[in-house]
Amino acid sequence: MLLMIRENYEEICKVAAQKFADFIRKKPNCVLGLATGSTPLGVYKELIRIYQEENLDFSLVQTFNLDEYVGLPWEHDQSYYYFMKKNLFDHINVHPNSIHIPNGMASDIEQECLEYEKQIIEAGGIDLQILGIGSNGHIAFNEPFSSLGSRTRIKTLTEKTRQDNARFFKSMDEVPKYAITMGVGTIMDSRSVILLASGSNKSWAIKNTVEGPITARVPATIVQIHRHATVLVDRDAASELTDAIKISE
Ligand code: PGA
Repeated sequence: MLLMIRENYEEICKVAAQKFADFIRKKPNCVLGLATGSTPLGVYKELIRIYQEENLDFSLVQTFNLDEYVGLPWEHDQSYYYFMKKNLFDHINVHPNSIHIPNGMASDIEQECLEYEKQIIEAGGIDLQILGIGSNGHIAFNEPFSSLGSRTRIKTLTEKTRQDNARFFKSMDEVPKYAITMGVGTIMDSRSVILLASGSNKSWAIKNTVEGPITARVPATIVQIHRHATVLVDRDAASELTDAIKISE
């Protein structure tokens, strides 16, 4: 695992976006794993800039998002489909047929999850996956005590995650209770992962992810045994690290 600590949020976003851009240039038909939440926003902004100013070409890229709320239609402004369109897809030349996001309105959720796994395999597997991390150490919607071998499935959101996400909804009642999420095992099958974290509210989760024992209690700790994982954090998110060798490039 490569630990990279940068001064602030802006810097980690620049480093992550550059890694994505370099990878897309090297493999134009790559398969990207994408995430929602506040953390990747700066990365997407920078990727849009590179697309506009440096001709980064997404025309052959395929994308798979980590998760989606159950029960929110695509046009709902808090659905992850809407988020991705607004913050990335509407601004780059990715082909609409190359975008994959679980369908939280599917009538048969179990079938939708199986189908999603199948689509990832048919695309050749995910080359590069971006990950945020919850303050409780979740990755995607794999909450504490999720099986570390899990595949795409429906999960109940914890109260903590619902509270963390309530800021995007009018009231707590409107925050969905369920989501479809790639499993920890699905994420671990990606050839590379970049986990990003910014801010002191993530310092506990990063401390555990980097220095703690691998445990389903903190699902992100599984990245310790990923073959090609980068943990890219700012100083505030790194503030509780004590033992890890701090690499600054
Ligand atoms: P955030 O969420 O980027 O909005 O902090 C991350 C996550 O919950 O995975």
